[in-house]
Amino acid sequence: MEIMENPVLSKKELDDVVKIHMDTFTGFFLTFLGKGFLRQMYKGFLAHENSGLIVAKNKNAVVGVLAYSEDLSTFYKYLIKTRLIPFAWYSLGAAIRKPSAMVRLIRAFLKPGETKREEKYVELSSIGVSPETKGQHIGTKMIDKLKEMFDADKFAYINLETDAVNNEGTNAFYIKNDFMLSRTFETLEGRKMNEYRWTRR
Ligand SMILES: CC(C)(COP(=O)(O)OP(=O)(O)OC[C@H]1O[C@@H](n2cnc3c(N)ncnc32)[C@H](O)[C@@H]1OP(=O)(O)O)[C@@H](O)C(=O)NCCC(=O)NCCS
Repeated sequence: MEIMENPVLSKKELDDVVKIHMDTFTGFFLTFLGKGFLRQMYKGFLAHENSGLIVAKNKNAVVGVLAYSEDLSTFYKYLIKTRLIPFAWYSLGAAIRKPSAMVRLIRAFLKPGETKREEKYVELSSIGVSPETKGQHIGTKMIDKLKEMFDADKFAYINLETDAVNNEGTNAFYIKNDFMLSRTFETLEGRKMNEYRWTRR
């Protein structure tokens, strides 16, 4: 098994990444926007200079993916600027399936601005491991890689948000990986969230 930082992904490998997202984030909003949207988003993480992907590969298959950004606010602006037409297309599809999704989509893109902070930090945007390889420490290896890349001279901490309710396994996973609960909050949709931070001691 190989842990790679920002690899060039073949079409099949990008499909694997999207499949992992669809399989692990079932019922989540970005999943609802569909495969085409997710392809553009993950390609965006690779293309944006302050964001990236850590990918776990087993032979030729991608079995895990971690998306991060050193500046989530500029990442979203970059996505809109460089991929406006595909995003508009996929969003239209989602809006037809569920009109209320449009409000949610606009909120999702505006949110990073709302949570702007004084200090610079790295956001662990998402992490997923294929269901067949869960529990084999692939998630931990990807987090270890992100910690190894973390530049404490430039950034204060690694930050992440995850559901507080019905999500015991993921919360246990972050605590096991030395993340500390920094706050709990509720989203505009009424989701209870936990925010965790890790910093090099
Ligand atoms: C969360 C996730 C990334 C963990 O990856 P993983 O490779 O399965 O996790 P690891 O094997 O590295 O687990 C490391 C430790 O975390 C803890 N842990 C992991 N999953 C756990 C679970 N479901 N319940 C309790 N503890 C868990 C364990 O202590 C484990 O160590 P151990 O096996 O030595 O006891 C993976 O389960 C996943 O893709 N989940 C679905 C997507 C998701 O919820 N992502 C996070 C939201 S952004």
